[in-house]
Amino acid sequence: MLGPGEEAFVIRFKGVVRAYRNRCPHRGLELDWQEGRFFDDKGKALVCSVHGARYDPADGSCLGGPCLGRSLEALVCREQGGVVMVEEGRP
Ligand code: FES
Repeated sequence: MLGPGEEAFVIRFKGVVRAYRNRCPHRGLELDWQEGRFFDDKGKALVCSVHGARYDPADGSCLGGPCLGRSLEALVCREQGGVVMVEEGRP
Protein backbone atom coordinates (compact mmCIF):
# COMPACT_ATOMS: atom_id res chain seq x y z
CA MET A 1 0.00 0.00 0.00
CA LEU A 2 1.28 3.45 -0.84
CA GLY A 3 1.59 5.86 2.03
CA PRO A 4 0.89 9.59 1.91
CA GLY A 5 3.15 11.28 -0.62
CA GLU A 6 4.45 7.99 -2.01
CA GLU A 7 4.37 7.44 -5.73
CA ALA A 8 4.22 4.49 -8.04
CA PHE A 9 5.09 4.22 -11.71
CA VAL A 10 3.75 2.11 -14.51
CA ILE A 11 5.78 0.74 -17.40
CA ARG A 12 5.13 -1.35 -20.45
CA PHE A 13 7.89 -3.88 -21.03
CA LYS A 14 7.73 -6.48 -23.79
CA GLY A 15 4.07 -5.66 -24.18
CA VAL A 16 3.18 -6.24 -20.54
CA VAL A 17 2.13 -3.47 -18.17
CA ARG A 18 3.74 -3.51 -14.73
CA ALA A 19 3.66 -1.19 -11.74
CA TYR A 20 6.24 -0.54 -9.05
CA ARG A 21 6.47 1.63 -6.01
CA ASN A 22 8.76 4.53 -6.91
CA ARG A 23 11.25 3.79 -4.16
CA CYS A 24 14.74 2.42 -4.62
CA PRO A 25 15.49 -0.19 -1.94
CA HIS A 26 19.06 1.07 -1.66
CA ARG A 27 18.27 4.34 0.12
CA GLY A 28 14.51 4.62 -0.16
CA LEU A 29 14.63 7.44 -2.70
CA GLU A 30 12.59 7.89 -5.85
CA LEU A 31 14.27 6.45 -8.91
CA ASP A 32 13.60 9.25 -11.38
CA TRP A 33 15.51 12.47 -11.16
CA GLN A 34 14.08 13.30 -14.52
CA GLU A 35 10.37 13.06 -13.91
CA GLY A 36 8.94 9.95 -15.49
CA ARG A 37 12.25 8.62 -16.87
CA PHE A 38 12.96 5.13 -15.55
CA PHE A 39 14.52 3.14 -18.40
CA ASP A 40 18.17 3.11 -19.41
CA ASP A 41 19.10 4.31 -22.89
CA LYS A 42 18.59 0.84 -24.37
CA GLY A 43 15.20 0.36 -22.73
CA LYS A 44 16.32 -2.91 -21.15
CA ALA A 45 16.66 -1.95 -17.48
CA LEU A 46 15.10 0.39 -14.97
CA VAL A 47 17.76 2.66 -13.49
CA CYS A 48 17.85 4.55 -10.24
CA SER A 49 19.23 7.96 -11.08
CA VAL A 50 20.74 8.46 -7.62
CA HIS A 51 23.47 5.78 -7.54
CA GLY A 52 22.79 3.84 -10.72
CA ALA A 53 21.14 0.68 -9.41
CA ARG A 54 19.68 -1.33 -12.29
CA TYR A 55 16.48 -3.35 -12.11
CA ASP A 56 14.86 -5.95 -14.34
CA PRO A 57 11.69 -4.34 -15.74
CA ALA A 58 9.98 -7.75 -15.82
CA ASP A 59 10.06 -8.37 -12.08
CA GLY A 60 11.91 -5.49 -10.41
CA SER A 61 14.85 -7.61 -9.28
CA CYS A 62 18.24 -5.95 -9.05
CA LEU A 63 20.54 -6.52 -12.02
CA GLY A 64 23.51 -4.66 -10.57
CA GLY A 65 24.68 -1.82 -8.40
CA PRO A 66 24.11 -1.10 -4.73
CA CYS A 67 20.71 -2.85 -4.81
CA LEU A 68 22.16 -6.35 -5.17
CA GLY A 69 19.87 -8.94 -3.61
CA ARG A 70 16.91 -6.57 -3.42
CA SER A 71 13.97 -5.75 -5.65
CA LEU A 72 11.61 -2.95 -6.44
CA GLU A 73 8.24 -3.44 -4.84
CA ALA A 74 5.82 -4.63 -7.48
CA LEU A 75 2.19 -3.57 -7.27
CA VAL A 76 -0.89 -5.31 -8.60
CA CYS A 77 -1.50 -3.98 -12.06
CA ARG A 78 -3.91 -4.91 -14.82
CA GLU A 79 -4.96 -3.47 -18.11
CA GLN A 80 -8.52 -3.64 -19.31
CA GLY A 81 -9.96 -1.94 -22.34
CA GLY A 82 -6.93 0.31 -22.68
CA VAL A 83 -7.12 1.46 -19.08
CA VAL A 84 -4.37 0.57 -16.61
CA MET A 85 -5.41 -0.01 -13.03
CA VAL A 86 -3.03 -0.25 -10.10
CA GLU A 87 -4.41 -1.79 -6.94
CA GLU A 88 -3.23 -2.28 -3.44
CA GLY A 89 -1.55 -5.55 -2.71
CA ARG A 90 1.23 -7.60 -4.17
CA PRO A 91 1.10 -9.43 -7.46
S1 FES B 1 19.16 5.31 -3.94
FE1 FES B 1 18.92 4.14 -5.74
S2 FES B 1 20.88 3.32 -6.10
FE2 FES B 1 21.11 4.45 -4.28
